Amino acid sequence: MAEVTAPREPHKAALGHLIDGRSVGSDTTFASRNSSELADVVGVFPEATREQVREACEAAGRAFKTWSKTPAPVRGELIGSIGRALEREKEALSRLVTREMGKTLKEARGSVQEAIDTCHFFQSEGRRLYGQTVPSEMPNKELMTYRRPLGVVAMVTAGNFPIAVPSWKIIPALLTGNTIVWKPSEDAPAVAYAFARLIEEAGVPAGVLNVVFGHGKDAAGEFLVDMMDEGLVHKFAFTGSTRVGRHIGEVAGRNLLHPTLELGGKNPLVIMRDADLDNAVEGAIFSAFGTGGQRCTSAGNIIVDAPIYDVFKQRFLERVGALKIGDPNKHPDVLYGPFINERFFERWEQHYLWGREDGATLLHGQGRITPQSRPDGFVGDPDAALYGWPTVWEDVRPGMRQFQEEIFGPTINLVKVDGIEEALRTANAVDYGLSSAIYTNGRDWAYAFKDGIEAGMTSINNTTVGAEAHMPFGGVKGSGNGTRESGIWVLDFYTSWHAVNDDISGRLQLAQMETAYVVPKDAVEVDGLF
Ligand code: UN1
Repeated sequence: MAEVTAPREPHKAALGHLIDGRSVGSDTTFASRNSSELADVVGVFPEATREQVREACEAAGRAFKTWSKTPAPVRGELIGSIGRALEREKEALSRLVTREMGKTLKEARGSVQEAIDTCHFFQSEGRRLYGQTVPSEMPNKELMTYRRPLGVVAMVTAGNFPIAVPSWKIIPALLTGNTIVWKPSEDAPAVAYAFARLIEEAGVPAGVLNVVFGHGKDAAGEFLVDMMDEGLVHKFAFTGSTRVGRHIGEVAGRNLLHPTLELGGKNPLVIMRDADLDNAVEGAIFSAFGTGGQRCTSAGNIIVDAPIYDVFKQRFLERVGALKIGDPNKHPDVLYGPFINERFFERWEQHYLWGREDGATLLHGQGRITPQSRPDGFVGDPDAALYGWPTVWEDVRPGMRQFQEEIFGPTINLVKVDGIEEALRTANAVDYGLSSAIYTNGRDWAYAFKDGIEAGMTSINNTTVGAEAHMPFGGVKGSGNGTRESGIWVLDFYTSWHAVNDDISGRLQLAQMETAYVVPKDAVEVDGLF
């Protein structure tokens, strides 16, 4: 167990779940803490029981009857109101994200903006949500298609992006007429609570958005998964680990549901010999250490072309040695803050063992930052929270555990390759395929990478992170099941297509069997014409 300053006992009154428009408590509670000052309790939250999760699903099921019939433009206007409430509270929400989750204020503001952008995008989608009119092969017959909502959507989200990523799910699901039971991460329930209150403020009817707090395993998250087997959930949307995603996918599959699964990543960032090195070093630093590496889009392996390996390594390490790290609540200019909590820290710390066992070479980093072991750029109190040294390894090769597995902390591997083909092979040698990036000034190499990389997202001369709110977000291989969030693409995952035909001929017309095709005449042979 990592040692931290002994936390004060939670002294705050527990907040409630949101079920059917009511605030509902539970006997068991858990505390959410300031990631940068673990003694500071941000809020106390109830731990949902199976029965409460079931009630939330039933309430969502009842609310679906009217919400799904509310005109889409009206639902869109409500999304607009949510966006305006978020804009009004952007600064306070951003500070709460920083306090609870530990990302810098600049990044926190960006993440709240991502939710606002999502509202802007979907507000007017309520006035589109197009279906099609389609010509029929029969006369006097009209064909048309409609997007239909799916029903009750269960959502389980992660704590590293506690507002942006939930908004990618909640906003389009509401817009398309679904109702929701959301189990936010136990790592950042306060941000979730604030977000839910702002959604309520916009006037969302009782039962349309239900929020149940709690943990995942053998708790609220697992209960929500079980609700698929009880027939109370018609869609599951999940952001989190590949292991849990597989389990959700299995339960969804036997219920013939198509879940949205946004899972882990081990994102490659390739730097070719012709790259603009200044730009590449900056991009590599942010991809590896931004958010303390706690993004699913963070870089996992930096794959460097042999001729520039040594110069890149030297410049990268110079920057790493000067990184400013510390409490983002007090020091707005740090690159990254603490781990979200002990669980994230412990998972990260064990990779030091993997590195040693597999024979990788440690270039920089000494595990937890402590009073005795602190980088030059560290500001603040290392005892108040869990901070990790920026950690850089080399001599890392495919097959090593730290090359293959998501570490989710401030750790990066430098991997030397020779040329674009080996770079691509190495970039693809992981079981994940979420994000990817290449730095090169050659169109041919950029395009070879774009076409050959197995990933849902690719940057050319940009970082592995920072997807925009109206582009499709998601991965291939172990990073997901082909679903996408954001932009117009997400609509397909919260609706089904309803094909309608209206036969006004007044008689039985049989498509395929009675279609009046034009019969071709005798074949024309061009050679015989002249
Ligand atoms: C995540 O880490 O789950 O592209 C989401 C990015 C952010 C979202 C990350 N816009 O890095």
